Order: sequence, then structure tokens, then C-alpha cells
Amino acid sequence: MAIPTETVYGLAANAYNTTAVSKIFLAKNRPTSNPLIVHVSNINQLNEVVKEIPPAATALLNKFSPGPLTLLLPRNSLVPDIVTAGLPDVAVRIPSHPLTLSLLQEIDFPLAAPSANPFGYISPTKVEHVNRILGGKIPYILDGGECKAGIESTIVGFIDNVPIIYRQGVITKEDIEECVGIAYLNERKKTVSPGMLDSHYAPHTPLHLADDIASMIKEIGISEIGLITYNEYSNLLPVTQQILLYQSDDHKMGATNLYAALHEMDRRSFKAIVVKKLPHHGIGAAINDRLWKASKK
Ligand code: TXA
Ligand code: MG
Repeated sequence: MAIPTETVYGLAANAYNTTAVSKIFLAKNRPTSNPLIVHVSNINQLNEVVKEIPPAATALLNKFSPGPLTLLLPRNSLVPDIVTAGLPDVAVRIPSHPLTLSLLQEIDFPLAAPSANPFGYISPTKVEHVNRILGGKIPYILDGGECKAGIESTIVGFIDNVPIIYRQGVITKEDIEECVGIAYLNERKKTVSPGMLDSHYAPHTPLHLADDIASMIKEIGISEIGLITYNEYSNLLPVTQQILLYQSDDHKMGATNLYAALHEMDRRSFKAIVVKKLPHHGIGAAINDRLWKASKK
């Protein structure tokens, strides 16, 4: 069943039930080498799935959970191999969406849930997205409205209590450093799991990350481009071919609206989707990272 979270919709199953979890991989066409995030209702349940919590992880949990933060922690034997793809750590998070949080409080098992999209496609942030991309393959979608954060959770692991950021999100590197001191971004050299591959989250229509819209128009043709931009329309293209992610300087709104804009542009069958790059810090870095992965290389 699909569940709403504050980041994106997830496709959930009882994390302790191997058969149920294997259906997630089938529905998403996801390789079983790519592990899943385990969603729990509180710290007590988190302690059930992990062996130990380093002090920096406790500090981050106290500050950001429930919320869009996933921690990689040594797993307990209760968690089946299929969930972690045999890795020694389990990815675990306490989501803050009220509907899913109360569902987790009602049931007595955690929910393993990846994003509710076919493997490699854009994550869904609205029920209509889930319905369009996975509708025929899943029995039920819990309607929790639009996802507020709009991009997947920040993933943090630890080496000797030092945080390593494996996926950026609306909780930024700066937020983490303010809480626990220095944190490192995982360099692309070491891919710990396929979700961290360079190509991911992509629409079917080729996507270009660009600073220079004029040269993209020259190359592709004015009527063939769908442009996603930030706080003002470009005067180089008809407004009907553009989607503005936000009207102010609030990059958070950019994250909230990003995937809905990509879904919409992909539906409209342009020859190319062009997206403007953001300044590369804070949430801008998380958004650029998603767009880079989604782009034609
Ligand atoms: O916001 C989110 O995190 C959403 C919502 C539904 O919670 N979930 C999500 O799940 O984005 P998914 O499966 O699409 O992305 C999880 C990422 C993948 O890149 C996966 O490879 C990585 O987390 N991951 C999961 N378990 C891991 C583990 N034990 N060690 C390393 N990476 C892991
Ligand atoms: Mg995903």
C-alpha cells in the first residue's frame, strides 16, 4: 500500500515480513540489491531495529525527528536481509506526516518503504502521481494530500560518530553541522547502494540543467521546450511552456514543487525539459543534486 510522508509517497510493507517486502521490489521493478528505509513510530521502536545509536545520531534524532531524516545504523537481527540487501546497516526514519505517524502507532511492526515510483523514475508527491505511475500494481493508496518537503529525506551514516551525508535533502549539511559539528558529504567514489547511482529520479523526457536558456532554445527549438524556473518567467518562451517553482526567494518551496513540475512537464510530451540551476548551497544543493541525477548526460 502507498503511504504519504512529509517527503514523498512511499510504498509500504511490514518490514518483518519477507514475502510482503518482496512484493515492493516486484511492484517497483527495483533490483533487490537496493535496500529499503524502515519507518518507525518512535525511538523505542527504532531501538528494536538497530543495535546501537552513536551520540551524534541521538542528537540528530532529538533535533530532527519525527521528520525528513534517515539514519544508517547497525541493524538488529529482527530486520530481514531483504530489507537491507544484506548490508550491516539499516536505514531508519521516523516520518512526521500525521496520517502515517498515527498508522505506525496503531500497528506493532515497522514499515519498510521506498519511494512509490517505478525504479529510476521521479518520486511521487501527490496521490495522482502514485495513481498514474503505479496505480495498476498496488491495492491501496492512503491519501495524505501533497507532500510538504517534496524531495526524499536526508540520509546520514556515521563513522566513529562523525556524520557522513549520503543523500542531501531539506535538512541540509549546514543544519546537521549546527547540531553536531562537522559533517562530510559522501564523495561519489564509493557507492554504498544503487539509489546513490548517478542516474536516478529521471523523467522520460530528456532533462537539461542549464544556466543559458537562450542557447538551449537555439539548439532544441522554441516550441519543443518545457522550462522549469524559479521566481520569474523567462521572456524567451511563452508562459504556457513554463512552470515557476516559487514566487519568493524561498528555496524550500522549490523542493516542495519540484517533482510535481517534473511529472507535469513529462506528461506534456515536450522534446526536452530545461531546468535552471540554483546557487549550490543549502536546499539549492539538494535540488541541484536531484536535477543532475535526472539530467541527460
Ligand atoms: O524520504 C524518503 O526517504 C522516502 C520516504 C518514502 O520515506 N523514501 C525513499 O526511499 O526515498 P528510497 O528507497 O527511494 O531511497 C532510499 C535510499 C536508496 O538510495 C537506498 O539505496 C538507500 O536509501 N539505503 C537504504 N537502506 C540502506 C542501507 N542499509 N545502507 C545504505 N543505503 C541504504
Ligand atoms: Mg526512490
